[in-house]
Amino acid sequence: MAEHFPAGFLWGVATAAYQVEGAAREDGRGLSIWDVFAHTPGKVTHGDTGDIACDQYHRLEADLDLLVELGIPAYRFSVAWPRIMPAGHGAVNQRGLDYYSRLVDGLLARNITPMLTLYHWDLPQALQEVGGWTNRATAGYFADYATVVYRALGDRVPFWITLNEPWCSAFVGHLEGRHAPGWQDEAAALAATHHLLLAHGQGVQALRAAGAAEGVGITLNLAWNVPTSDDPADVAAAQRLDGNQNRLFLDPLFHARYPADMLAHYAPVSDFGFVQAGDLATIAAPLDFLGINYYEKHVVQADPTDPTRGALVLPPTGPLTSVGNGSDPDGLRELLVRVSQDYTPIPLYVTESGAAFYDYVNPTDRVTDTERIAYLDVHFRAAHQALAQGVDLRGYFVWSYLDNFEWAMGYAQRYGLVFIEFGTQRRIPKQSALWYRQVIQRNALE
Ligand code: FCB
Repeated sequence: MAEHFPAGFLWGVATAAYQVEGAAREDGRGLSIWDVFAHTPGKVTHGDTGDIACDQYHRLEADLDLLVELGIPAYRFSVAWPRIMPAGHGAVNQRGLDYYSRLVDGLLARNITPMLTLYHWDLPQALQEVGGWTNRATAGYFADYATVVYRALGDRVPFWITLNEPWCSAFVGHLEGRHAPGWQDEAAALAATHHLLLAHGQGVQALRAAGAAEGVGITLNLAWNVPTSDDPADVAAAQRLDGNQNRLFLDPLFHARYPADMLAHYAPVSDFGFVQAGDLATIAAPLDFLGINYYEKHVVQADPTDPTRGALVLPPTGPLTSVGNGSDPDGLRELLVRVSQDYTPIPLYVTESGAAFYDYVNPTDRVTDTERIAYLDVHFRAAHQALAQGVDLRGYFVWSYLDNFEWAMGYAQRYGLVFIEFGTQRRIPKQSALWYRQVIQRNALE
């Protein structure tokens, strides 16, 4: 039986500026923390950087034409803050705005809906030098930047995402140190969490003041944490991971408070003294939609030797992606249902979902990524089940449009629906892209 999606369901693909644009030194762009991090020896696989990436900055028209060829109705992209404000605040670089204006016009001329993310991890390096996300002032600078971008593009872009995955910015960037700025300091990760959320809240105020009556949201990466047994210690460990990865962000955004168990858990590290009067009300200002990125299920076991969360995530089972994730579509359904029941009735979008596999061009010049088709198929079905359970899910964006600079894993991991031969920049739509085109055309799964 075919599973039909509602009319108007928004199918799309997603990318982020530093992962695809290249042109890192062009047209007045300032440095971001990712330029500095990637150019630091030992931080990224093979020493890869985003200097060239997919060169989308120079290949914009061709990449937009390919979206049309693949029948993609919506494109989620991010704006590079250091292209717009090279020093993070103050002077505006018109050439940066012009690039995104061309991008948006190019999408609209092709009948493709733009979804814009203001911050996908590329903080201007100048702001990092004064503390980055551990500095409260960064939130205010973000709001100024949001105003500038909205004034330039607000008349043409219907979807505005303030931040992409603040958990990753805060914890992968400041505690694990695997991402820029590469810190390993738990107290800093907590301060960064709050200032990112505050930046979101002040950014929402700025967007509303600039005229955004609708179309304002944020994207969170939510993980599905399940205990490995009913042993109370394992259950508590799974709760702690859920608290850190999900509730530390969902609770302030939708209930204007930090979760009590997390405040208690972090008390030895931080008294949350960075929270000032009025901050939580700012953070919890009403939104028009919520974006959810889903990649991971965690089977959690208590681990008293783990210094941060007392938890061990067990290795996934079943067929794995090339980054070592499993395929756990039930988690997507569960999270969508939970968010809509426990947190908010606003429309939800899956703003990222996808997987990396060992893709290659075969002797017939094709990329037959049947694993990706299987992965997307079961995740689309999970989204469909969530719809059937009453979730107001409005769209689904596959990560990613193109193979690209996969952060600390460089060009070694391929998430694209389109293969890129990086040396020549040749684009080769994978079999999954052709399959996705049919799903979109039918607005249904077979
Ligand atoms: C998400 C990021 C995105 C990409 C995918 C694989 O966490 O938002 O940029 O790296 O993972």
